[in-house]
Amino acid sequence: MSDQLKITDSRTGKTYDIPIKDGAIRAMDLRQIKVSDDDFGIKSYDPAFKNTASCISRITYIDGDKGILRYRGYPIEQLAEGSTYLEVAYLLINGELPTRAQYEEWEHNIKIHTLLHENTKKFMDGFHHDAHPMGMLVSTVSALSTFYPDAKNISDPESRRLQTYRLIGKMPTIAAFAYRHMMGLPYIYPDNELSYTGNFLNMLYRMTEREYKPDPVLERALDILFILHADHEQNCSANAMRSIGSSQADPYVATAGAAAALYGPLHGGANEKVLRMLNEIGSVDRIPAYIDKVKSGAVRLMGFGHRIYKNYDPRARIIKQTADKVFEVTGRNPLLDIALELERIALEDDYFIERKLYPNVDFYSGIIYQAMGFPTDAFTVLFAIPRTSGWIAQWEEMLNDSEQKIARPQQIYLGADKRDFIPMSDRG
Ligand code: ACO
Repeated sequence: MSDQLKITDSRTGKTYDIPIKDGAIRAMDLRQIKVSDDDFGIKSYDPAFKNTASCISRITYIDGDKGILRYRGYPIEQLAEGSTYLEVAYLLINGELPTRAQYEEWEHNIKIHTLLHENTKKFMDGFHHDAHPMGMLVSTVSALSTFYPDAKNISDPESRRLQTYRLIGKMPTIAAFAYRHMMGLPYIYPDNELSYTGNFLNMLYRMTEREYKPDPVLERALDILFILHADHEQNCSANAMRSIGSSQADPYVATAGAAAALYGPLHGGANEKVLRMLNEIGSVDRIPAYIDKVKSGAVRLMGFGHRIYKNYDPRARIIKQTADKVFEVTGRNPLLDIALELERIALEDDYFIERKLYPNVDFYSGIIYQAMGFPTDAFTVLFAIPRTSGWIAQWEEMLNDSEQKIARPQQIYLGADKRDFIPMSDRG
């Protein structure tokens, strides 16, 4: 006999056998539990999806208690060690590592889509000089929908593939243009002789030199950071991508919506907040007072805690190792001493131990980004570029899943019962 959950409804005394598969029951199986024929049936109440699986996925595996993260079965540590971001993007979207020929074709197709339509530049020029780069990125990705109306054809795999090349190819260009706009610098066009991250650094930092040569250590460090940020299963932004995509909206507006979800300080916006927090603390001797403030509930320790990880975030560990290599080139970021001491104190403190609060991916990433010359405002954009491949993988999987339909949660209505309208003149 298959595994079953036996439920007895104390209201009726009836017993139900609900099948258990893959450690879950189907919420729709609860609907049969009714007190009368016209009863809607039982539903589950789960604000913030704390215990609800919204899909079956084969992309990313996380064991939050053990601190394990795998893309398509491959441990994140091995991918960070031996792979490149573009190879990981291929893996996430296609399910398998590419052969050399497949990789070369993939890289070529992405690189020939790095240019933006010239009108996009005009559009971006309209932003105020101090516009936040994430606001610019969200709006510009969304605007791509108007340049590529063919993207509406979401049921055509060829069209989806083309939009995938365009999105992965153009994301760094949009991000770099947003940065250059913010700095008042002329836009730099892509150099497709360079690697994905090398070209991104070129578009950000090239000044008057004829050819930009990225520092190989920084180029590789950025590639590793991109690998670490590429996907993280059903997080807030992936859920937004799937939810928007479920209405059959095109992938540009869906990606813009996912990026908007990422922007928030409780999600990808945390890396920016960590840096501001470290600056506010200012010196190691002020850490105990700050920890007291966190424990009193006045502020949160940004870059700490995670809905899924109740152990050290494996990405934070890899970033910490990468930081040492970056600092050999850029010089040590003095904020690192504050971060290391903050982590040491927090990991020994009962408040953090009891709540299983460990450093997450954002705790150390900002310190590296700052050392590499990125302004704090641009940190979340650096997250959005690589996460684009994860969003696309999630979107593809959702579109190919015959069980998926337009996302539409239930609610428990506790508002006013029926009452009659009162004209304004009679409302006292
Ligand atoms: N600092 C202090 N206390 C915290 C923190 C924190 N960073 N995170 C959680 N807590 C406490 C909460 O106050 C709560 O305590 P209580 O039980 O006494 O009320 C308990 O830990 C559980 O916290 P929740 O908010 O219920 O946990 P949830 O899973 O909803 O939140 C989140 C996860 C949003 C990541 C949270 O830990 C947080 O705000 N962290 C700081 C922001 C951050 O770093 N976000 C980046 C996450 S990684 C990413 O998205 C890429």
